[in-house]
Amino acid sequence: MSIHNPDIKRVTTHTIQELKSRGEKISALTAYDYSMAGVVDAAGVELILVGDSASNVMAGHQTTLPITLDQMIYHASSVVRAVKRALVVVDLPFGSYQGNSEEALRSAIRIMKESGAHAVKMEGGEEIRESIVRILSAGVPVMGHLGLTPQSIYKFGTYAVRAKEEAEAQKLIDDAVMLQEVGCFGMVLEKIPSTLTKQVSEKLTIPTIGIGAGPYADGQILVLHDLLGITKEFKPRFLRRYADLHTIMTEAIAHYVDDVKTAEFPNEKEAY
Ligand code: KIV
Repeated sequence: MSIHNPDIKRVTTHTIQELKSRGEKISALTAYDYSMAGVVDAAGVELILVGDSASNVMAGHQTTLPITLDQMIYHASSVVRAVKRALVVVDLPFGSYQGNSEEALRSAIRIMKESGAHAVKMEGGEEIRESIVRILSAGVPVMGHLGLTPQSIYKFGTYAVRAKEEAEAQKLIDDAVMLQEVGCFGMVLEKIPSTLTKQVSEKLTIPTIGIGAGPYADGQILVLHDLLGITKEFKPRFLRRYADLHTIMTEAIAHYVDDVKTAEFPNEKEAY
């Protein structure tokens, strides 16, 4: 865990709630390792998600399904060691909470104890209600995740926009209200129509954090490597790239290779 510094006011679940109450948008990003988490935190992001997207971004899997609880704890503890200010939320990975509420609680407790993170995130609504309630009653803050829930990709069969039809939209609203009623401190809304995000965000007092959910969410989240342009192939319409680090990094490394080949590196000043 990071060392307490009285000069830095930590972001808590209450801060996140206050931001919504005063109409200030919440910034959130993923991080999976110590070095990047330090940069994200220093840049002023309020909520850092150790997402199970680590399965794609860090490990190169096609889906989020393969990542394990042990691997999530490894990523989360690396992030926690770097973060001085942001709230650190960790995804409960696929298979660590769907079985029953006892298993869900055990998984959440392992994350909190072994990583030092501040909250967990879980995908789903009514079907995982009992597990959410059990984790909350152990004093662990829970963030919900509705809309496109990547852990269910093989059920959906596609990463297309969710809840366009009336019945699915109504279920999402009901699930969002349930998550608030049982005590979740916020929720991610992924890849749903803007109008639905607006409706849910106005109905709830807890904040919504959108990804591909339009401008009406109370906050926004992106996968860090997508925002920085490190990943190249992933080009959904909702993604804004703020840098082209793939090109910058490739050029820098190619330059290094060149310098080594031509014996330009190291020079005399770089030698002992
Ligand atoms: O795992 C993840 O990165 C996420 C975000 C896309 C919200 O769940």
